[in-house]
Amino acid sequence: MIKRIKIVVIGFGSIGRALAKVIALKRKTINNKYGILIDVVGVVDSKGMALKADGFDEYELLKLCEVPRSGVNLFKPYAYQGVDLDVLYNSTQPDVHIELTPSEYSSGEPGISNIIYAINRGVHVVTANKAPLVLKYREIMSSALSKGVEIRFRATVLGGTPFIDTLMSLRSHDIERIEGILNATSNFILTEMHEKLVDFNEALRMAQALGVAEANPTLDVDGVDAAAKMVIISNILEKPLKIEEIYRESISRVTLRDIIDAVRQGYIIKSITFFDVRGGKASIKIVKIPKSDLFAQINGIMNGVRIRSDATEIVFIGRGGGGIETAHSILDDVISIALHYS
Ligand SMILES: NC(=O)c1ccc[n+]([C@@H]2O[C@H](COP(=O)([O-])OP(=O)(O)OC[C@H]3O[C@@H](n4cnc5c(N)ncnc54)[C@H](OP(=O)(O)O)[C@@H]3O)[C@@H](O)[C@H]2O)c1
Repeated sequence: MIKRIKIVVIGFGSIGRALAKVIALKRKTINNKYGILIDVVGVVDSKGMALKADGFDEYELLKLCEVPRSGVNLFKPYAYQGVDLDVLYNSTQPDVHIELTPSEYSSGEPGISNIIYAINRGVHVVTANKAPLVLKYREIMSSALSKGVEIRFRATVLGGTPFIDTLMSLRSHDIERIEGILNATSNFILTEMHEKLVDFNEALRMAQALGVAEANPTLDVDGVDAAAKMVIISNILEKPLKIEEIYRESISRVTLRDIIDAVRQGYIIKSITFFDVRGGKASIKIVKIPKSDLFAQINGIMNGVRIRSDATEIVFIGRGGGGIETAHSILDDVISIALHYS
């Protein structure tokens, strides 16, 4: 028997569009493999919504990706002016809410309110937006538990890998330490500085030209994004940290002279996030590591994390984000929810 899963996508920027494309391409295969038919019934950006209660077909999903930014309210005849979650939910009756609004760490909005709304309506949530989990992890998880809905967030940390799922599955382990290269933009800039022998500003300009760095790169280069990821990890391990408790060193302070000196001595400079789980302390530091270290081989937009427990050591290497990878993580979470509840 085919199970229909109706999803609403809140935030239709680069990840929302990548998700719509992947669903258009893989919807039939997923249906054949798992008996689950994913219907996108609503898409929302900051200005409006496109709503279709029986789901957009593959062609419509691809056409939706062609609307300009802030333009889903132009997608006739399904367009709705303005954002109204009551209208969205009442007219589409979704099973899963996908939260893809920007990660905003001072208020957590609109992500926190959107996720709480979904939970209160008894709707499962998949989020790539980190901020609600960074600021309100416990509150969100306990409300979800009391309402019997799932919150999944594989896309938030090392989104191109099943890192979060694995960390959650290590139930018998005593996790002692987690360390890693958690931010693709910073790692790309440092790699460019080593390989092209350019200074920080030049490497940043190259990263911006390639779309690897945002116009405002501070969240990435100053370590806020990596700290946010470590806060999510710390909550999974039930040793919750606050983002402001994490000491951060910015890669903007690394000079070309530092790089040249390090390389001459047989080292590579990396930005590494450390979490001493037992001691309950985390930091993001600019460190010199030997060229032979595994982390020295993780370059460009690749990320890597080492988990050390009382039983073993596990290393994940993969893409931290990117449209297609993040979209697959989100879709995997949706399929897991559908399989669990069918
Ligand atoms: N990019 C990655 O590789 C990556 C990887 C992992 C996680 N993430 C996280 O995933 C989320 C989405 O990332 P992105 O790169 O797709 O961001 P983005 O391109 O900036 O898109 C954000 C979307 O959210 C919409 N939005 C903003 N405020 C809204 C509101 N009040 N109500 C409804 N929609 C609103 C924006 O609308 P407009 O189009 O009208 O501006 C836009 O469509 C972020 O939280 C990010 O941190 C991203």
